[in-house]
Amino acid sequence: MEPRRTVAALFIACFALLGSTQAVSLEVKEGNTTCIRAELSASFSITYNTSSGTSMVDVSLPDSAAVDPAESSCGTNGSPSWLVAVFGSGHALQLTFASNGSVYSMANLSLQYNLSDSSLFPGSNSSDVVTVVSSSLGIWATLNTTYRCNSPVSFNVGGVTVTFRDMRLEAYMPGNDLSDTESICTADQAMTTAPPTTNSTTTTATTTAATTTAPAPTPPGTPDRGRYSVLNGTGTECLLAHMGLQLNVSYFSRPQNKTIQSLVNLNPKLVNSSGSCEATTALLTLTQEQSVVINFTFTLNASTSRYHLSAISLFANWPDMTRPLLTGNASLNYLQSTLGHSYMCNAERVLAVAPDFSLNTFSLQVQPFDVTSNQFGTAEECQVDRDQMLIPIIVGATLAGLVLIVLIAYLIGRKKSHAGYQTI
Ligand SMILES: *[C@@H]1O[C@H](CO)[C@@H](O)[C@H](O)[C@H]1NC(C)=O
Ligand SMILES: *[C@@H]1O[C@H](CO)[C@@H](O)[C@H](O)[C@H]1NC(C)=O
Ligand SMILES: *[C@@H]1O[C@H](CO)[C@@H](O)[C@H](O)[C@H]1NC(C)=O
Ligand SMILES: *[C@@H]1O[C@H](CO)[C@@H](O)[C@H](O)[C@H]1NC(C)=O
Ligand SMILES: *[C@@H]1O[C@H](CO)[C@@H](O)[C@H](O)[C@H]1NC(C)=O
Ligand SMILES: *[C@@H]1O[C@H](CO)[C@@H](O)[C@H](O)[C@H]1NC(C)=O
Ligand SMILES: *[C@@H]1O[C@H](CO)[C@@H](O)[C@H](O)[C@H]1NC(C)=O
Ligand SMILES: *[C@@H]1O[C@H](CO)[C@@H](O)[C@H](O)[C@H]1NC(C)=O
Ligand SMILES: *[C@@H]1O[C@H](CO)[C@@H](O)[C@H](O)[C@H]1NC(C)=O
Ligand SMILES: *[C@@H]1O[C@H](CO)[C@@H](O)[C@H](O)[C@H]1NC(C)=O
Ligand SMILES: *[C@@H]1O[C@H](CO)[C@@H](O)[C@H](O)[C@H]1NC(C)=O
Repeated sequence: MEPRRTVAALFIACFALLGSTQAVSLEVKEGNTTCIRAELSASFSITYNTSSGTSMVDVSLPDSAAVDPAESSCGTNGSPSWLVAVFGSGHALQLTFASNGSVYSMANLSLQYNLSDSSLFPGSNSSDVVTVVSSSLGIWATLNTTYRCNSPVSFNVGGVTVTFRDMRLEAYMPGNDLSDTESICTADQAMTTAPPTTNSTTTTATTTAATTTAPAPTPPGTPDRGRYSVLNGTGTECLLAHMGLQLNVSYFSRPQNKTIQSLVNLNPKLVNSSGSCEATTALLTLTQEQSVVINFTFTLNASTSRYHLSAISLFANWPDMTRPLLTGNASLNYLQSTLGHSYMCNAERVLAVAPDFSLNTFSLQVQPFDVTSNQFGTAEECQVDRDQMLIPIIVGATLAGLVLIVLIAYLIGRKKSHAGYQTI
C-alpha cells in the first residue's frame, strides 16, 4: 500500500473509532436455522471504583463481539431463547427473549464486565467480574416481524446505562433472514410523520409527532418547559419531570476552528422520554432527535428515605462537531428530597456536571420515586425559591413596621401638641 493510502486508511479507521458506535451483527443458530438475529450498536456507561474515587467509562460493543454458541440457546417450543455475545477479555452481553405465541419480548438483559481489563477500566481497584441484570425493558414486537429502533434508547441495568441505537432484531424467526415487516419503536415513530407498519412500543414518548428539523442550536432564551414521564411495566407513571432545560457545553467547532461555549435549549416538542424505575434507582432518558441524549439517574437511600440526582450523562452530536461529545458525572448530589415528595425549583438552577458541561434548569419539578396516581406529591422547594418567597414577606413586614412607627410618632406628636394647647 502506498504511504498516502495508508494514511487515508488510518484516518478512516480513526474516524470510525471516534465516531458513534458501530453496528454489530449477531446471530444464534441451531443446526442450519437461525432463531435470533440482532444488528445493533450498543454502548455501556459504567461507573467503577478507583483508589481515589469513582470513574465513569463509556464502553461500546465492538465489531469483534461474537456470539458464543455454547452459551446461547434457541429454546424449544417457544420457551425462552437467548443470545450471548462475548467481547474483549471476559465481557459479555446476554439478551433473553420470551414469547407468548403472538408477541416476543426481550425478557431481560444482562451485562458482564471484567474490571481486571485495564484497557477499559484504567485504575480500577477491583478485579471482579461484575454481572448486572435488568428485566422488563419494554422491547417487544409481534411474532414474524423485525423489531426496529434507530433512535437511541437507554436502560438502567443495575447502575449501568445501556444505550442501543440502530437496532434491528428478531427472535423466534420464521426464516433465516430478518422479516420484512417491521415493528417500529415509539421513539422512531415520533421522528417521522409516516405511519408505522405495525404496532410496537418501547418507551413512553410524551411528545407528539414532529417533523425533522435542522438540529441547529437554538439561540438562548428561556427554554420551553417539557413534561416528561416514565411508565413502569403496568403502564402507570413512575417518574415525573417537568422542566425547561438548557445545555451549556464547550466543544471544538470545526467551522470556527476553535473551542466554543454553546448554549442549547431542549425543545420539548422534539424530545422523547424513556427510562426505568427500580426500587432504589430511577433513570430518565431524554432524546432530542439524533443529536442529544441526556440520562438522569436518581438514587434513593432506603435507610434515610431521601433521594437525589446522582448522575447525568450527555451525548451530543451537532453538525459542526469534529466528533460526538460524551460527557457526564456519576458522583452528583443534586435535587435532594424526601421519598413521597417531589422536588421543585422555579428559579433557574445551574447544575455543574463536568468541566465541559453544565445544565441550566428552569421551572423544575421532579419526582423519581413513589409517584401515585400519575401526580406529583407535596413539593419540597429549593432554597432559592424559599428565599424568594421570603422577600415579599420581609418587604411586607418592613412596610408594616414603618407604618406602625409613623403611626406611633403621629400619636405621640398629637398628644404632645394637645398637651401644649392645654397649657395655653
Ligand atoms: C445443513 O445444511 C447442509 C448443506 O446445506 C446439509 O448438508 C446439512 O444436512 C444441514 N444440516 C441440518 C442439521 O439441517
Ligand atoms: C464502590 O465501592 C463501594 C464501597 O466499597 C461499594 O458499595 C460499591 O458497590 C462499589 N461500586 C462499584 C461500581 O463497584
Ligand atoms: C475501592 O475503592 C472504594 C472507594 O474508593 C472503596 O470503598 C473500596 O473498599 C475499594 N475496594 C478495594 C477492593 O480496595
Ligand atoms: C479478566 O481480565 C483479565 C485481564 O485481562 C484476564 O486475565 C481474565 O482471564 C479475565 N477474566 C475472565 C473471566 O475472562
Ligand atoms: C401476548 O402478550 C401481549 C402483550 O402483553 C398481549 O397483548 C397478548 O394478548 C398476549 N397473547 C397471548 C396469546 O397471551
Ligand atoms: C430472564 O428471563 C427468562 C425468561 O423469562 C427467565 O427464565 C430467566 O429466569 C430470567 N433471568 C433473570 C436473571 O432474570
Ligand atoms: C409465523 O410464521 C410461521 C412460519 O411462517 C407460522 O407457522 C406462524 O404461524 C407465524 N406466527 C404468527 C403469530 O404469525
Ligand atoms: C456557561 O458555562 C460557562 C463556563 O462554565 C460559563 O462561563 C457561562 O457563564 C455559562 N453560561 C450560562 C448562561 O450558564
Ligand atoms: C485553525 O487554527 C490553528 C491555530 O489556531 C491554525 O494553525 C490552523 O491553520 C487553523 N485551521 C484552519 C483550517 O483554519
Ligand atoms: C444513606 O444515608 C446514610 C446517612 O446519611 C449513609 O450513612 C449511608 O451510607 C447512605 N446509604 C447509601 C446506600 O448511600
Ligand atoms: C463530578 O461532580 C462532583 C460533585 O459535584 C465534582 O466534585 C467532581 O469534580 C465532578 N467530576 C468531574 C469529572 O467533573
